[in-house]
Formats: sequence, C-alpha cells, structure tokens
Amino acid sequence: MNAKAEEPAPDPTAVVAIDGPSGAGKSTIAKAVAQQLGFQYLDTGAMYRAVTWHFLENRCSPDQLGTDRLAAEQTMRLGLASMELQLQVGGRVLVNGRDVTSHLRSQDVESRVSAVSALPFVRASMTQMQRAVAAAGPVVAEGRDMGSVVFPMARWKVYLTASAEERARRRKIDFDQRGRDVTYQQVLEEIVVRDRLDSTRQDAPLKQAHDAVLVDTTGLSTDAVVLCILQIVDRGGRPQRT
Ligand code: DC
Repeated sequence: MNAKAEEPAPDPTAVVAIDGPSGAGKSTIAKAVAQQLGFQYLDTGAMYRAVTWHFLENRCSPDQLGTDRLAAEQTMRLGLASMELQLQVGGRVLVNGRDVTSHLRSQDVESRVSAVSALPFVRASMTQMQRAVAAAGPVVAEGRDMGSVVFPMARWKVYLTASAEERARRRKIDFDQRGRDVTYQQVLEEIVVRDRLDSTRQDAPLKQAHDAVLVDTTGLSTDAVVLCILQIVDRGGRPQRT
C-alpha cells in the first residue's frame, strides 16, 4: 500500500484574469497581486513580444514577407515551430535558450507586436501554452483575452483601464527611465493606434469579459489598485455593491 497522500490536482479555475489596454498598469499590478496571493505571474504580452522578436530575428515577421499570404503564413508557421519559449519564474523570457528579455520592449518589437499577435495560429499556440501554465497551479494572468477567451472559467476576472492620456503619461515615464527618446504626443498616438488594432482584430479582440469587474485606475496609486483586486478575490470576483 502506498501511504503517501495523493497530491490534490491543480484547479484550472484558480486564475486571476487581468485584461485591459496597453499602459493600464496591468504588469505592475498583476505582479504585485501574484506576489500577495502566492500565485504564479503570467505575462502573456511578453509571450507575444517574444514571438515577434523571434520572427524578426528569422526575417519572417509579416512586414518582412511578400504579398503571397499563403506562402507568408507557411513561413511564419515554420518560424513558430522552430521556437522554444521558456518563461522563467523571475519574469525572464528565453527563446531557444537565449535570454531575450531586454529586447522585448525595443521599438522594432513594439511596432510589430500587434500584427503578430493578430495571427490566429500564433494565438492558438500561445493560448495552449497559457492554459498549460494554469493547469500546473494558480496564476495571475494578464493580457487582452485572459477572461474572454483563454480562461473563460477563471474564478476572478478584472478589466483594468485608464484614460488614454493617463496611460500615455505613465508610458512616457517608463520610456524615459529606459532611455527611449519619444515625446508624450508620440506615445499617446502609439497608444491610440495600439488600442484600435488590439480591439478591432478578428481573433480574440481586446474586450471586457461580461463577468469581469471593471477597475479604472486613472488617478489611483498602484497600492490602491492592488488592494482593490485583492478585495475582488476575497469576495469571489463579484463587484462590490454600493
Ligand atoms: O501587454 P503588452 O503591451 O506587453 O502586449 C503586447 C502586445 O501583445 C499588444 O499589442 C497586445 C498583444 N497581446 C495580445 O494580443 N493578447 C494578450 N493576451 C497579450 C498581449
């Protein structure tokens, strides 16, 4: 007889799904919430950025291919098949064993990631990987389609947003710290374009899941937003009655 107690199976609904547009503060907030809850943090934007970086390296990003769509897709599928993506616990991202974390926010990746993340076969592959991560244990997953497509059964769903101006202001500070030379106006324009591309694509567009709690972070501190999400988790995901 085996005296060892059986490990309980991981609960695939133990997911805090955090979606929202770029610059809403998802990464900072999701990381802090994951740390507080002792859940794994899953940055799905970094996954799409890593695919974009890999396509660029292999000269097969959509803008580097010809106009024959079938041939282009075949080339990109081969590119994706040649990619081994690893997400490390500390947040570092490895592609075929190489640490590419510092490249994921480059201008080259930034300007192409919307096009790459709109490709259905790329989304299907990332979705599969994201579900595998959640099947292994509880996660705080952030992205655009966590609550709506990847984890429709997530126990907690949050849609984080903020005004485009506030998001541009935050991004500009972030870029300044990274030494990227851009004006506020350029950042705002990038955000508006990205919002439009992310929310109008055919496959898994950015949208608030019908059962997600809307949290507008405009004017709120990080601590206040983290607390708000922890309260949502405590209450089982239901919005607070006023
Ligand atoms: O969150 P981020 O800025 O790192 O995301 C980068 C891009 O990836 C952005 O254009 C939207 C896309 N994305 C997506 O389509 N689906 C996700 N789950 C996460 C990100």
